[in-house]
Amino acid sequence: MLDQNELKRNVAAAAAEYALECLQPDSVLGVGTGSTVDLFIDAIAPHRDRFRAAVSSSERSTRRMQDLGIKVLDLNEVTGMPIYVDGADEVDGDLNMIKGGGGAHTREKVVASVADRYICIVDESKLVKRLGAFPLPVEVIPMARSSVARKLEAIGGRPALREGFITDNGGEILDVAGLDIDDPARYESLINDIPGVIGCGLFALSGADLVLLSTQAGVRRIERK
Ligand code: A5P
Repeated sequence: MLDQNELKRNVAAAAAEYALECLQPDSVLGVGTGSTVDLFIDAIAPHRDRFRAAVSSSERSTRRMQDLGIKVLDLNEVTGMPIYVDGADEVDGDLNMIKGGGGAHTREKVVASVADRYICIVDESKLVKRLGAFPLPVEVIPMARSSVARKLEAIGGRPALREGFITDNGGEILDVAGLDIDDPARYESLINDIPGVIGCGLFALSGADLVLLSTQAGVRRIERK
């Protein structure tokens, strides 16, 4: 029986193999954030001469890549990338996701928006029928923390401030439990529209294109329908 860390390591290795099939020597790789992505960075680093550079979605991933000799570019220097590789906190059968457990979802969404394909790497514990058991992270401007929280309560959520946590953008995070996310894209738009929200952890308006799902029986591919 593989433990969760071994499942993550397996999917990270499969993602590195997949990435190397997609990347050319002049390609830029989009890189997400989290414990699964850390393992992906470790797996791809020995092959860093097979692509030009990476764009990172967090200070954490930037440090790890630079320590392993991967060149990291600023997103403003890049016009496109074939793939973006990142984890998720939950993913459903339509490849909608909840992200932001590490508080990096705003930058993740921006970097992903520049890539041709979003490759989501998760272990099987993250696959759900309906999103929302994992409290939805919403990044807010600090002065809007209370006003946004009231709006989130008005749509049925129970927001809790992530104590002592400041994002790479200087924002704060409200983790919102209790939302009945029957239509993820509608909720994403609704929350994005609240004044003071920097970024919502729902990835449904544009979800993953491919999920690599690590199971006890191996890594399964789930393509967007
Ligand atoms: C970071 O903010 C998140 O969006 C991560 O992608 C997500 O939390 C998955 O992280 P793990 O791979 O550590 O579970």
